[in-house]
Amino acid sequence: MTAFTYEIDKDGIAVLTFDLPGEKVNKLTTPVMRELDALIDGLAANKDIRGLVFRSGKEGNFIVGADIAEIRGITDSAAGERLARSGQAVFAKLEALPFPTVAAIHGPCMGGGLELALACAYRVITNDQKTALALPEVRLGIIPGFGGTQRLPRLVGLTNALDMILTGKSVYAGKAKKTGLADEITYKELLLDRARAMAKKARGKPRPSKVRAKGPLAKRVFEDNPLTRKLVFRIAEKNVRRETRGNYPAPLAALDAVRFGLARKGEEGYRHEAKRLAELAPTEVSKNLISVFYLNETLKKDPMPSPVRMARAGVLGAGVMGGGIAQLFAEKGYIVRMKDINAKAVGAGLREGWKIFSKRQKKGVLTAIQARDGFDRITGTTDYAGFGASDIAVEAVIENMDVKKSVLSEFEQVAKEGAIYASNTSSLSITEMAKASKRPDRVVGMHFFNPVEKMPLVEVVRGEKTSEETVAAIATLSRKLGKLPVIVNDGPGFLVNRILMLYLEEAVTMLEQGATIEAIDDALLKFGMPMGALILLDEIGIDIAHKVSEILYRGLGERVKPGVLLGALYKEGYFGKKNGKGFYRYQGRKRTGPDSSVYGRIPAHTGGRAVISPEEIVDRSVLLMIKEAALCLEENIIDRPDLLDASLIFGIGFPPFRGGLLRYADKLGAKMVVEKLEGFEKKYGERFTPPKSLLELAKTGKGFY
Ligand SMILES: NC(=O)c1ccc[n+]([C@@H]2O[C@H](COP(=O)([O-])OP(=O)(O)OC[C@H]3O[C@@H](n4cnc5c(N)ncnc54)[C@H](O)[C@@H]3O)[C@@H](O)[C@H]2O)c1
Repeated sequence: MTAFTYEIDKDGIAVLTFDLPGEKVNKLTTPVMRELDALIDGLAANKDIRGLVFRSGKEGNFIVGADIAEIRGITDSAAGERLARSGQAVFAKLEALPFPTVAAIHGPCMGGGLELALACAYRVITNDQKTALALPEVRLGIIPGFGGTQRLPRLVGLTNALDMILTGKSVYAGKAKKTGLADEITYKELLLDRARAMAKKARGKPRPSKVRAKGPLAKRVFEDNPLTRKLVFRIAEKNVRRETRGNYPAPLAALDAVRFGLARKGEEGYRHEAKRLAELAPTEVSKNLISVFYLNETLKKDPMPSPVRMARAGVLGAGVMGGGIAQLFAEKGYIVRMKDINAKAVGAGLREGWKIFSKRQKKGVLTAIQARDGFDRITGTTDYAGFGASDIAVEAVIENMDVKKSVLSEFEQVAKEGAIYASNTSSLSITEMAKASKRPDRVVGMHFFNPVEKMPLVEVVRGEKTSEETVAAIATLSRKLGKLPVIVNDGPGFLVNRILMLYLEEAVTMLEQGATIEAIDDALLKFGMPMGALILLDEIGIDIAHKVSEILYRGLGERVKPGVLLGALYKEGYFGKKNGKGFYRYQGRKRTGPDSSVYGRIPAHTGGRAVISPEEIVDRSVLLMIKEAALCLEENIIDRPDLLDASLIFGIGFPPFRGGLLRYADKLGAKMVVEKLEGFEKKYGERFTPPKSLLELAKTGKGFY
C-alpha cells in the first residue's frame, strides 16, 4: 500500500499527501500508521527538507479518524493499549521532526486526524462549512488515545479542550482561530499556498516559540493556577456526572487523562492516556456506541440514489415546523417559497427561519454571509404565487385531515408536472390524504422531528399509492439536507410516534396508579432516556399528545386505549410548556418543579393507588416499547430491526449506550421479555400481551438480531 506521496519544492518544503487507496475518506488504519512511521523516519533523515506540509489527497476530507472497525475488534485491554501506544509513538516522531510541520486542513478532521494535526507545529484550515475539527472518541465510548488528551489542553487551554474532549463536538473555522486550534483560516483554493508559506516562514524554527493557550488573559491565569484549575476540574466532573448519570464512563476517563497529563507532563501522561483508553475499548458500552455509529453510516448511505433533481421547494404552513423546514432547505441551497394563511403567520415563519440562521452563525457553523445568503433564499406569501415552480412542496399546516386534503388539492392546481407533495404530518394517514390527489403516486410523508435543525431523523412514509421513485427521491433529498432517512410504511403514528406515544401514555397511567411525577421521570432518566416521559409530554404539548393518542386508539384499537388522565388534563387546559401549565410548573420558559395540582385531576375511579418501584417504571415503559416494536416488524411498518433501532435513537434519543431498543431486548433475552410482559398482562391487561413474533423468539431462543 502507498497511502502517502511527497514532493519537495525549490524552497525545501516537502508537501506530503495522504490519499488512502480505494477509500473515499482517509482513515488511520494500522497499515497506514506503519507506513507513516517509516516515512517519517525517511523525512527526518532527509537533509534537503526545510519544512513539511501535511495535506489530504481526498476531495472533501482531511482525515476522519482511526479505523473504527479496528476499535470494534479490540476485545482485551492489552490490545487497546498496544494500539494507542504505537499511534502515540508515530505522532511523537512527527512532533520531533527537525523542521516546521504544517497541517493543511479542509473537510472533517476527526479523532486521530486531529491528533495528527495537533502533533504538527501549525495548522491552517479552510473556512468551508465542511471543515470541522473534533475529538469525537467519547461518542464511541472511548477517549482519544493518540495524544489528544495531552496536546489539546496545552494548545487551546483547559476549558476549551474539555469542551471538545468531553462532548466530542465539532469546532468550525471561526472558533478554531479564536481558541488557537488553527493558526490561520483561508479559502479552499488558497490552502496549499498558505500552508506552504507558513512552513517557509517558520524555516529554522521547528516549533512555535509560544506554545500556550489563546484567549482572554484572565481565563488563562485561571486555568494555569493549580488551585483554580482544580476548581475547573471539579465543576467539569460534576457536570459530567450529572449528564451521564453513570451510564457513560468515557468522559470521566477523559477528564482523568487530561488532569493526569497536566499534572505530570511528558511521557507519563501519554502512558496514562493509553491505559484509560485500553480499559474502555473492550466494554459493552463502547461496542454498543460503535454499533450506533454504524447505524448512522447505514442511514447516510443511499442504497437507491434518485436521479430526481430538485432546486426549488415550497413550504406550506409557516409555523414551528414550517419555519424550521424552510430554513433547512434554504441553508442547503434550495430556493424556498413559504405560504401561510395570513401575513402575520408568514412573518412568524420567516422570523423562526432567521432565528435558526443566527444560531448557526453564532455557533460558527455558518459565516455571516452564508447565513444572510441562506435567509435571502426564503420568500413568503399568502397565496400560491411562485408555487408553480416548486419541485417539491413540504406541507406543515395544522394536524387536521380536512385542512391537509384541501391544501393538497390547492397545490395541485398550480403544481408543475412531476412535482412531489410531501406531508410533514406526525400521525395522519398518507394513504387517506392521497385520496384528495390527482396523482397519489407523488404524495408521500416526510416526517421531520422537532426541532428540525437538531433532530437527525426523517421518516419517509410510503402511502399505499406512493411510487418507489417518489420514496427514493425523498430519501435522497433527506440525505442532501443532512438528515438520516428511514423508509416506513403508512400506519397510525407511522413508526416512531407510535412507539413513543405508547411509552408516554404508560408514564401517565403509572401516575394515575400512584407513582409520583419525579419518581417516573427519575427512573427513566437513570435508564438513559434523554428526558423524563412527563417532561417530554410537556415539551410536545399535552394537547398534541392527546390528539395523537386518540388517532392511535382509532387506528390500533382497544389495546391502546389511553388512560383517563391525559384527556382530563387536556380538558382542564393543561397544554404543557407552551401555556406554562403541565406536569411541571414554569416561570416563562423555565421549568420550576412538578405541578402537584396534577394529582388532583386523577379521577377517583382509576382504582387503588400504590407506590411503583423504579424497576417497574422502567420495565413497563421499555417493555411496552419492545412489544410495539415487535408488532411494527410483524406489520411491516419497517422491515429491519437495525433500522427500527436507528429510528428510535435518532428520532427520540433512545439511549445510544444501550445500542438500540431491540438490541436491549436481545440482551434481556426474548424469554425474559415475554415472562415480564405476561406478568404485567395479568396485572394490567392486554396492552402488555406479548405478540406472536416475540413468543416465537422466546420459544426458539433466538433474538431480533
Ligand atoms: N411541532 C412538532 O413537534 C411537530 C413535529 C413533527 C411534525 N409535526 C407536524 O407538522 C405540522 C405542523 O405542525 P406545527 O407544530 O408547525 O404547527 P403550527 O401550529 O406551529 O403551524 C401550523 C401553521 O399552518 C398554518 N396553516 C393552517 N392552515 C393553512 C393553510 N390552509 N395554508 C397554509 N398554512 C396554513 C397555520 O397558520 C400555522 O402557522 C403538523 O402536521 C404536525 O403534526 C409537528
